[in-house]
Amino acid sequence: MAVDDSALLQAAEAALRQAYARYSRFRVGAALLTAGGRVYRGCNVESISFPVGQCAERNAIAAAVLEEGPAMRIARLLVTAEYRGQVAACTPCGACRQAIVEFGADATVLFRDAGGALLVRSAAELLPSSFGFGDKG
Ligand code: THU
Repeated sequence: MAVDDSALLQAAEAALRQAYARYSRFRVGAALLTAGGRVYRGCNVESISFPVGQCAERNAIAAAVLEEGPAMRIARLLVTAEYRGQVAACTPCGACRQAIVEFGADATVLFRDAGGALLVRSAAELLPSSFGFGDKG
């Protein structure tokens, strides 16, 4: 069965409930659909040494690469977040945008705006002029 956005949303919400967001209390869940048709999830995992914390999106990418290997391509990635029990706006951070583009410049990214609506963008729209090695990339 094809994976639709409501299945991705459900997967991201389940991931968010696993978040280790002890310091920010900002819980993030990501669900990633690969070109191969499988879904991988990630949540944010914080650390007492703050910069060591990991974002949900990059944890989902790591899970997908672990299973599908270096040829893994992102088709769709949905991000959702909660703060104090309420749905919170969460657009992928700059580092996550670069990581998403790595595995799918034409991937579709869905995320919440301040009103809780799901916005839909391409990865390239989210990070125009992303870093690369030019013709060596
Ligand atoms: N966070 C994510 O998981 N993804 C993003 O794209 C933005 C921020 C996490 C990091 C940290 O655990 C918490 O949200 C607050 O910044």
